[in-house]
Amino acid sequence: MKTAKWFFCASLLTVASHLGAQTATIEAKVDALLEKMTVEEKLGQLTQFTAAPTDLKEQIAQGRVGSVFNFGGSVNTNELQRIAVEKSRLGIPLLFGHDVIHGYRTIFPNPLAIAATWDPGSAERSARIAAIEARAAGIRWTFAPMIDIARDPRWGRIAEGAGEDPFLGSAFARAYVRGFQGSDLSAGDSLMACAKHYVAYGASEAGRDYNTTDLSERTLREIYLPPFKAAVEANVGSMMTGFNALNGIPATANPWLVEGILRKEWGFDGFIVSDYQAVEQLIPHGVAATKEEAARKALSSGIDMNMVDGAYALLADDVRAGRFPVAVVDRAVRRVLRAKFQLGLFDVPYVEADGEDRLFLLPEHRAAAREVAEKSVVLLRNEGGLLPLSKEIATIALIGPFIEDGGEMLGSWHAAGRPEDVTTTIARAIRDEVSPETTVLLAQGTGLLEGPDSEIERAVATARLADVVVAFLGEGGKMSGEARSRVSLAMQGRQEELLKAVVATGKPVVLVVKSGRPLAIEWAAENVPAIVYGWFLGTEAGPALANVLFGDVNPSGKLPVTIPRSVGQIPIYYNHLRTGRPATENQYTSKYIDSPNEPLWPFGYGLSYTQFAYSDLAVSSPTIEPDGSITVSALLANRGDVQGEEVVQLYLADPVASVSRPVRELKGFKRVALAAGESRRVEFTITPDMLRFWNEGSWVVEPGQFLVWVGPDSQKGLEGTFELRGPAR
Ligand code: GLC
Repeated sequence: MKTAKWFFCASLLTVASHLGAQTATIEAKVDALLEKMTVEEKLGQLTQFTAAPTDLKEQIAQGRVGSVFNFGGSVNTNELQRIAVEKSRLGIPLLFGHDVIHGYRTIFPNPLAIAATWDPGSAERSARIAAIEARAAGIRWTFAPMIDIARDPRWGRIAEGAGEDPFLGSAFARAYVRGFQGSDLSAGDSLMACAKHYVAYGASEAGRDYNTTDLSERTLREIYLPPFKAAVEANVGSMMTGFNALNGIPATANPWLVEGILRKEWGFDGFIVSDYQAVEQLIPHGVAATKEEAARKALSSGIDMNMVDGAYALLADDVRAGRFPVAVVDRAVRRVLRAKFQLGLFDVPYVEADGEDRLFLLPEHRAAAREVAEKSVVLLRNEGGLLPLSKEIATIALIGPFIEDGGEMLGSWHAAGRPEDVTTTIARAIRDEVSPETTVLLAQGTGLLEGPDSEIERAVATARLADVVVAFLGEGGKMSGEARSRVSLAMQGRQEELLKAVVATGKPVVLVVKSGRPLAIEWAAENVPAIVYGWFLGTEAGPALANVLFGDVNPSGKLPVTIPRSVGQIPIYYNHLRTGRPATENQYTSKYIDSPNEPLWPFGYGLSYTQFAYSDLAVSSPTIEPDGSITVSALLANRGDVQGEEVVQLYLADPVASVSRPVRELKGFKRVALAAGESRRVEFTITPDMLRFWNEGSWVVEPGQFLVWVGPDSQKGLEGTFELRGPAR
C-alpha cells in the first residue's frame, strides 16, 4: 500500500511539475515574442474584426488583426490563417471566435430551456458537443456561456442565460465552462469559453436592451456577480464586458469591476474582450469625447481586446511617444498571446478540411440534443390528467405556426444550425409517434405575426373534427435574444385569439408554449387544461416534444425563471426582500388593487406525470456551530404509477438579520429518479458559509435562527428551523 501511495504522490508531483514547466515555457515564449513586436503589431493582437472589412486580408498580412469572429468553416478559417501564419512578419496565428451558445451545427435547446433541466450535466453535454463541431469548423473560442442573471422577461436576452437565480446560474456557469474547455484547451475538441456579459447586463432598466443598470453593491455581489465568480473558479479562459453602464460607469471602462473585482479579488488571469463596438460606444455613453479617448479608457480599464470598431489602433502614436504606457499594452498582449499558446494555436494553426463532414450532426449528437430537449420541457398544468396523450387516439389536430416549421425550432443565436437539419418537424414527429390508424389533422391557424380570419376559421373547423387538440403557440425565434425587448409578454400576433377560438369548441386542448422567454399567458393558465413549456428545443425539438406529449418521457423540467401573470408585475422574482407590510387582506399592505401578487408559475415549479410527495423533514441538529455543519433531509415518494425524476430543492431564509434578507434563497438542488412506488430520503448539508450575505464591504455570517425548506419549488416545501451559534466568547 505504501508503494502505491508513494507512486501516486510522485505522479502528482510529476503532473504538477509538467504543468509548471508548461506554464513557464508559455511565459518564456510570450516574452520572446513580445520583445520582437512593433507597436502596431501589439495593438493588432488586441484588435478583432468580423470578416466584413474589405481590407481584412491586408490588415492580417500586416499583423494588425489578432482575432476574427462569426466567420466559420474550415476552408474559410484556413484561408485567413494561412495569411496570418505565412504572410505576416511574425506569423502569429489568428484566434477565430464565434457565438456558439447552444450548439454549433447540432442545435440544443435555448440556454434558458437547458436551465429548466436543473441538470448542469445537460449544459456540459451540450457545450462538449458544440465544441467538437465548432472546432471542426476552425472555431477556437466561443462567446459563451452567457451567464447574466435576468429578472425581467421584457429583456429578450433572458432567453440566452440560466434565469433569475445566482445559485442555479453559478452551477450552469461552471458546467458550460467545463463542457466548452474540456480538460485541455489545446485538445482538438476544446473551445476557449468566454463568460459574458460582465456584469449585471441583465438588469437593463425597463427590460430595454443596452439600457443603463443601477443597483446596490449588495445586489451586485449576491445576485449578479456569483455566476462570473463560478466561471473564474472553473478556469474560464476569457470574459466579455457588457454594453451596460453600471451605476453610471460603463462596464467597458470600469476599473473597479475589472481590475478591482475580477483581477485583484478573484485572481482572474484570462483576457477580456469588449462587446461589439462597445469601446467606441463610450462616446454615446458620455464618458469619452473621441474614439481615441474611448480606446485609452477601455484599454487602461483592463479591456484587453477591442471587438470590431478598431479603436485600439488609434493609440499607436501615443504609445510610441510615451503618452500611453506601453506596459498597459504589453499586459493585454501578453494575455492574448498566452491564450493562443494555451490553445495550441502556434503548433496547430490550421484545421482538417474534412472535420465538418465527419463530425456535424452525428447520430449521437442528435440523440444528446433530443435528450437534453426532453429534460427541458416543463409541465405547468395537467387538469384531469389529459397528458400524456394516448398513441391510439382516433383523431388529433395540431394547430399553430410552428407545427411544420423547422427553422422555428432553433431559437436565437443558432450558429451554423439550419432549418433543413430539423428533419423531423413537430407534425412529422407526432405522426411517427401515434398509431397508423390515428388521423393527424394540421391547421396553422395563423402566422407568427398575422393571418386572415379564414385561417382561424379553418383551424376551428379542424379542431371540431378531432378528439384532442394540441396547439403550439407563443413567439417566434426572432422575438427573443439580442435587441428583442418587448413591452408585452403576450403571444405574438393573433395566436391567443386562435387559442381562444379553438378552446371555445369545447374539445380538450393541450397548449405547448413555444418561446425563448416567459410569456404572461394568464388567460391560457386559467382556461387550457394542459400546458407544457416547450421553449425552442433545437434540432430535435419535434421528437422530444412528441416523446413527452405521448408519455415516452415523463417531463421533469422546473422553471429557472418566474412566469409573471402580467407585464405589470415586473420585476417579479422569487428571492425578493421582505417588506414592512407584506400582502394580506388588509388594503394597506404591499399588493395591487387589480391583480394578485403571485406569478402564474413560480421559480422552481414543474409538474410530472407521476405524483411526488415530500414528508418527514429531518434536521440533524437544532444548532450549527460556527465551524460545523448540519444535514437537512426529507423523504421523497413517487406516489404515482410511472417512473419519474424530481428536482428536490433546498431553500434557506434569515428572518432576522442586521439587514432585510430575501424571503428565501435557493441553496441546493438534486435531481432524483424514482420508480413508481419508490421512496428515498434526500439529504443536503448546510454549512455556515451558505448563510452569508454582503454587508458594508464584506461577506458576513450572523448567528441566529434560520428557516429551511425542502420541496418541489420556491413557494412550497417542508419547513424546518435551526440556529447558527455565535463564536465562543
Ligand atoms: C453581440 C452580443 C454578444 C456577442 C457579440 C459577438 O452584440 O452582445 O453577446 O457575443 O456581439 O457577436
